[in-house]
Amino acid sequence: MTHAELTYIGPEAIVAKRREYGYPCTANFYKEPPQIVSGKMHKLYGHDGKAYVDFFTGVSVVACGHCNEAITARTIEQLQTLQHTSTIYLTQPMADLAERLANGILPGILKRTFFVNSGSEANEGALLVARLHTKRRNFLALEYGLHGRTFLTMNVTGIPMWRTDDFLDQEVTTFIPRPYDPAMDQDAAARRSLDALASVLAEKGDTFAAMIVEPIQGNGGMIVPPDWYFRELKAMLERYGILLIADEIQTGCGRTGRMFAIEHYGIVPDILTMAKALGNGVPIGAFSTTDAIAASLNRPSASTFGGNPVSSATALAVLDYIEQEGLVERSLRVGGQLIEGLRELQGRYRLIADVRGKGFMAGAEIRGATDEESAAWTDIILERMKEEGFIIGKNGIGRNVLAFQPAMMIPEEDIEAMLRALDKVLAGLSQT
Ligand SMILES: Cc1ncc(COP(=O)(O)O)c(C=O)c1O
Repeated sequence: MTHAELTYIGPEAIVAKRREYGYPCTANFYKEPPQIVSGKMHKLYGHDGKAYVDFFTGVSVVACGHCNEAITARTIEQLQTLQHTSTIYLTQPMADLAERLANGILPGILKRTFFVNSGSEANEGALLVARLHTKRRNFLALEYGLHGRTFLTMNVTGIPMWRTDDFLDQEVTTFIPRPYDPAMDQDAAARRSLDALASVLAEKGDTFAAMIVEPIQGNGGMIVPPDWYFRELKAMLERYGILLIADEIQTGCGRTGRMFAIEHYGIVPDILTMAKALGNGVPIGAFSTTDAIAASLNRPSASTFGGNPVSSATALAVLDYIEQEGLVERSLRVGGQLIEGLRELQGRYRLIADVRGKGFMAGAEIRGATDEESAAWTDIILERMKEEGFIIGKNGIGRNVLAFQPAMMIPEEDIEAMLRALDKVLAGLSQT
């Protein structure tokens, strides 16, 4: 027996411990949550051996599969060779990773990278470098975006439920309507967003250091702007010397069918942030920029764990795996099939109001008679899908969007099986 098996305490005891020793702000999915004890590639396993095909991958993190041996072998090797020194001593993996990102991974002339440990920290660094470079204080952001939990990143976060701090700086961020409104045509909503941006720029364009955007809003409910949107937005910002930060923390590393989702729009951001999938579960974050902008981050700075040998060696293995297995192209192709399958279900079930996404970043919006009912149906579907052996995520402003972000190597038959299970669950609900 393994140590984990001997010390197994079960879901109720875990919930009780979290309630007793954690903060009340954290929650878990499901009325009857399983205790997940192991994972292998696109699957997770409960303590009773029940297998779940994982369509959420820990919120878009384990994009190359759980405990993928091609990656963990290199993590373990590094862990057993040299774990930590901090950046004040010279180690090779971080330098190799920065070089690798610059040569063929990052778009355009983005070249220099600073490594940190999480998405919030990557965005915090991007905002800092934008301020130092432009010598301006304020930021633009899209409504209903999510950028992090630190003070500055929470300031630019537009989703009310994630703006926890009562003392956010009300002046620092100006929010622009996002290019989506369920009551409007897509192009009209995007046009309205840019019109609002134009008015703000005309009034106080020279106060902004940067605009931070998710190329496809994840937590905001899988919002894909029209093809022309970011090109026009970037040109408008350039006229005022405002930098564009692409937050690719959820969209990055191939998930949407491009290495970075902003590439779908044919532009290169000034600063790009990544985290999540870059480490496939090992904590890592990064912000990358051009030679010229990076030159402005020249006062002393350091991250104790950022770019440590273990996370850097892991990220190098992740990039190798993505390349060797052709996962970027596969996300577009097989993810497209997933989205088509969801659209087919939308055609048959009124509960699915909309299907959105690109590649393996797909969402199905559930709509009942009221907002409360929409969220409640979503939770019921999640629970029943779990019973069928599928872990589905959820997001959206009303917490009513089913999120499908599986490992990018998921076999096609598991996608088909999930769609059949969802069909069955929706058919059952339509009869209630
Ligand atoms: C787009 C985006 N930015 C930033 C973050 C924050 O990342 P982290 O939780 O690693 O700090 C998230 C987390 O979900 C995210 O989805």
